[in-house]
Amino acid sequence: MAKTKTAYFCRECGNETARWQGQCPGCHEWNTLVEEPTAPRKSKGSAAGSSARASGAGISAPVRLRDVEGAERPRWATGLAEFDFVLGGGIVPGSVVLVGGEPGIGKSTILLQVAGRLEGAQRSTLYVSGEESAHQVKLRADRLDEAASSVTLLAETDLDGILIRAAELNPAVLLIDSIQTVYTPELEGAPGNVGQVRECAARLQRFAKQTGTAVFLVGHVTKGGGIAGPKTLEHIVDTVLYFESAGGLDNRVLRATKNRFGGVDEIGVFRMTAAGLSPVGNPSELFLGERSDAVPGSAVVATMEGTRPLLVEVQALAAKAAYGAPQRVSTGIDQKRLALLLAVLEKRAGLHFGQLDVFLNVVGGLRLTETATDAAVAVALASSVFDRPVPSDTVVIGELGLGGELRPVGQIERRLTEAARMGFRAAYLSPRAVPQSVPPGIRAIPVEDVRTLVDRIFAA
Ligand code: TYD
Ligand code: MG
Repeated sequence: MAKTKTAYFCRECGNETARWQGQCPGCHEWNTLVEEPTAPRKSKGSAAGSSARASGAGISAPVRLRDVEGAERPRWATGLAEFDFVLGGGIVPGSVVLVGGEPGIGKSTILLQVAGRLEGAQRSTLYVSGEESAHQVKLRADRLDEAASSVTLLAETDLDGILIRAAELNPAVLLIDSIQTVYTPELEGAPGNVGQVRECAARLQRFAKQTGTAVFLVGHVTKGGGIAGPKTLEHIVDTVLYFESAGGLDNRVLRATKNRFGGVDEIGVFRMTAAGLSPVGNPSELFLGERSDAVPGSAVVATMEGTRPLLVEVQALAAKAAYGAPQRVSTGIDQKRLALLLAVLEKRAGLHFGQLDVFLNVVGGLRLTETATDAAVAVALASSVFDRPVPSDTVVIGELGLGGELRPVGQIERRLTEAARMGFRAAYLSPRAVPQSVPPGIRAIPVEDVRTLVDRIFAA
């Protein structure tokens, strides 16, 4: 009996090596190599045999770019506004979209809603479920607001079978839930292993390009937060969306991390209800939380998520350390950034944190990555140290330099407009950031540095 040929694949980057090693030579991660069977090269090819190749059949012809029609292809709007927005204006025909997220976050739910809406707009869909039975999917569909009953369901995990049915039905959108349950018998090895996931995704990608069918792939997420299976999966697809919970509540944030047909870092906000996911049209309201006035340690920043301004509350608590080295705990803001801001406050504003535990939290579970949030974090910290609240109609926008100087940040008008819309009346920012025309309803208060900022806000 012939022995199955195997190789070692990296679970993180998909790199293939003949020998086992402790460290992946591709991405230098440790202990990520797993042994998997490799299929003989020749059976990996497409159905078109080499004789067809020789005659030129099935080989695409080169074209001049100027002869390629229509730069901007139409998009299919699902009508689920936040979903379309994150995609960059709807589904692009022939595109492949990977939807990643932890189990139970709502990937199946949102895709079923999308399928239902597409059917409602006379676009045919095929929903392939390898994780749940038809009965289970039906039960879910019954709970949704969307009329998902006209969605066609296929309970199948063999990729060949899926592609045959998809070719017969020729749906506008094909949804695969999930890519880790699909397998091709041409490769040995269980569904979900690196080789299988990569090969199945590549073949679905070819199918999408050849037929113009848009394909959605559900992908599970590993402990490290990556989509299980190879990173190469992210290179194969056109768009990668991550679905994550915000604040452990029913709020969900959908985020594009790669998009060949639109911007990245746009977010869509949803709330999980008894009738599926419902878009939250006004995310600022969500991330401002139930703000009660006069609580020390809270400050509001106008941050940008992609092209959209979002008002977010930052909370700080500085309390006397009980024993040993004081703690620095932050959720939603990089720990190192917090350390830097504490040092700046210490050195440039004369606040002392040496004996204090510092806890920092971004309301709503959002992750803030913009340096534009520096000044607000500093103000929240100062507010907690002084035990005096920041006036509730005040936002703080700006980056802090190591010299304590307040730096201007981009898109200031949009931030101010959103702040005014949400009822804020005063915005502290860098003198260089004050725009030509300040949106009505809000005052732009220029401050040079963090000391002045703290003095002005907490002046008797
Ligand atoms: P699901 O879409 O199955 O998550 P995933 O596919 O990402 O694993 O969502 C599962 C959770 O959502 C489950 O805990 C039940 C909840 N849910 C609702 O709260 N309301 C609903 O209308 C539906 C369909 C699910
Ligand atoms: Mg699911």
